[in-house]
Amino acid sequence: MQKTILITGGAGFIGSHVLRLFIKKYPDYKIVNADKLTYAGNLENLKDIEGKANYFFEKIDIVDKEEVKKLFERYNFDGVIHLAAESHVDRSITNPMEFIMTNIIGTVNLLNAAKDLWNIDKKGKLFYHVSTDEVYGSLGETGLFLEETSYDPKSPYSASKASSDHFVRAYGNTYALPFVISNCSNNYGPNQFPEKLLPLFINNIKNGKSLPVYGDGKFTRDWLYVEDHAIAIDKIYHDGCIGETYNIGGFNEWTNIDLIKLLCKQMDIALGQEPGTSEKLITYVKDRPGHDKRYAIDANKLKNNLGWEPSLQFEEGLKKTIAWYLNNEQWMNNITSGDYKNYYKEQYS
Ligand code: NAD
Ligand code: TYD
Repeated sequence: MQKTILITGGAGFIGSHVLRLFIKKYPDYKIVNADKLTYAGNLENLKDIEGKANYFFEKIDIVDKEEVKKLFERYNFDGVIHLAAESHVDRSITNPMEFIMTNIIGTVNLLNAAKDLWNIDKKGKLFYHVSTDEVYGSLGETGLFLEETSYDPKSPYSASKASSDHFVRAYGNTYALPFVISNCSNNYGPNQFPEKLLPLFINNIKNGKSLPVYGDGKFTRDWLYVEDHAIAIDKIYHDGCIGETYNIGGFNEWTNIDLIKLLCKQMDIALGQEPGTSEKLITYVKDRPGHDKRYAIDANKLKNNLGWEPSLQFEEGLKKTIAWYLNNEQWMNNITSGDYKNYYKEQYS
């Protein structure tokens, strides 16, 4: 069946994997990637699919409601998969306003455009909002986040994502907008901007630079390979129930320090170094303000209702991830030098 789908934030880390999966799996769909190309948006992530007949790119700032309105008028979307966001907690601490604008106002602009477009006929339409487990706040030593867990966001990033989740549900309730939300744990894998833990540390180890571990390093996160997240999004988009929330996670909890030590071991092997070489780079630094202690997701609803499970064991996923960054030196160099920003100009001018 033919569909026209808007994917926002498709030049980012997770968005690029979702786009690739949809472009390849659904040749009959028309898929539009709308992205502002902030520092985190990199069209090089999509090099292999940009020539496909079912792929369209629009450079759009979702905060601009007129641009968003025009986009919806131009394409008459059947569905939206909304990933565009400011996504880095540390940046939200130094500049919360960007997060309020993109994550809250940008989401509401998309909701308004979808509501207006689908006003007469909502059949087959869906607004899929991609969110994070961070909206649930921080756990103690035990317990897991369930879909029913009360929201308790603690950083400007998670507060802005929580707010956007509330708006999506409110539009579902007030205007009968067909929606679905998923809340996922920490993703890792190829194409992640090297401000996040794993790509930053892989690059630092490669260059013999120190590994800045926040606080005591005993913070816990659940890690999921990004392609498994994309597969979950595909499943939820096509088979999920309207109005439902699905938690997505890797069943894979690690304290930061244990994960970093495993990374160091694997990096020593990959770089052919003496065992213990990378670990010497570990440096404990001042903690992130308000640092959430533990996130852990119960993804059993998704597993039981839609039959999704992570396909990769963590050690295997980490090995694949390291191999990707080491084999894609140019991608990393383009980011660290800022050259990736020229790609849009060269490709689309
Ligand atoms: P990312 O920062 O790598 O990419 C974000 C993308 O959004 C970029 O391409 C950027 O250019 C675009 N964007 C930002 N502001 C925009 C604007 N105003 N208008 C249009 N485009 C804009 O983020 P990511 O890690 O790929 O995360 C994608 C989504 O998944 C986010 O909504 C995030 O909250 C959510 N999420 C991320 C993780 C994770 O571990 N990375 C986990 C769970 C949920
Ligand atoms: P991050 O990748 O920023 O994701 P999030 O904050 O959304 O979970 O960080 C993952 C964990 O690693 C988090 O507990 C913070 C920690 N961290 C460090 O210890 N040092 C670093 O340089 C970074 C970027 C993160």
